[in-house]
Amino acid sequence: MAKSPEPPEETRDEPKGVTRRGLIKGIASVVGVASAGATTLLVEARHELQAASGNGAIPVSLTVNGAARTGSFEARTTLAEALRDAWGLTGTKVGCDRGACGACTVLLDGAPVNSCLTLVHDADGRKITTIEGLGSPEAMSPIQKAFVDADALQCGFCTPGMVVSCSALLARNSKPSELDVKEAVSGNLCRCGTYTGVFAACDAAAKTGVTRG
Ligand code: FES
Ligand code: FES
Repeated sequence: MAKSPEPPEETRDEPKGVTRRGLIKGIASVVGVASAGATTLLVEARHELQAASGNGAIPVSLTVNGAARTGSFEARTTLAEALRDAWGLTGTKVGCDRGACGACTVLLDGAPVNSCLTLVHDADGRKITTIEGLGSPEAMSPIQKAFVDADALQCGFCTPGMVVSCSALLARNSKPSELDVKEAVSGNLCRCGTYTGVFAACDAAAKTGVTRG
């Protein structure tokens, strides 16, 4: 299940005790339940963080799909916003923008995270892999090809996040059980009900013996 990342060492001064960034992290850790209260707290925490940072754009530098990316973003900018709006990587979808659906799942240093709950500044200096980084239509990764072969999608909105979660699973477990797959995609919701196809695709990809999903 995608989750919020461990933030790196703080790079800006923040008050001791309960920091705004810590508050975002804490809210993100429980916002999987996506209660209206938690979502409101998350939005308020992002605005507080923005106000505390002086409303200016702050430089960030990270690696996305093997290529260096730089930019300047307000403190409240999420990784999903930077990927989609600044760098044009629209394969990452934003369904709920509150950590409930998993459509925005990307890999942060190899671990799946909800990019809508990850501040781009918390990804500074780290490696991001999006659905575009796994393969292309001309050269699909085993799990991408397996999704196509198993017809594991309908509208496709959840699919990038599903594929990224399955890819992370296969990278750490080359022979996952169906239970392992269910756990791996437990944070990825599909309104079209393609789960049976997703399980079949993950099984087929695992049988290729290629550890990279
Ligand atoms: S969990 Fe990020 S858009 Fe839904
Ligand atoms: S394929 Fe439509 S939401 Fe999953």
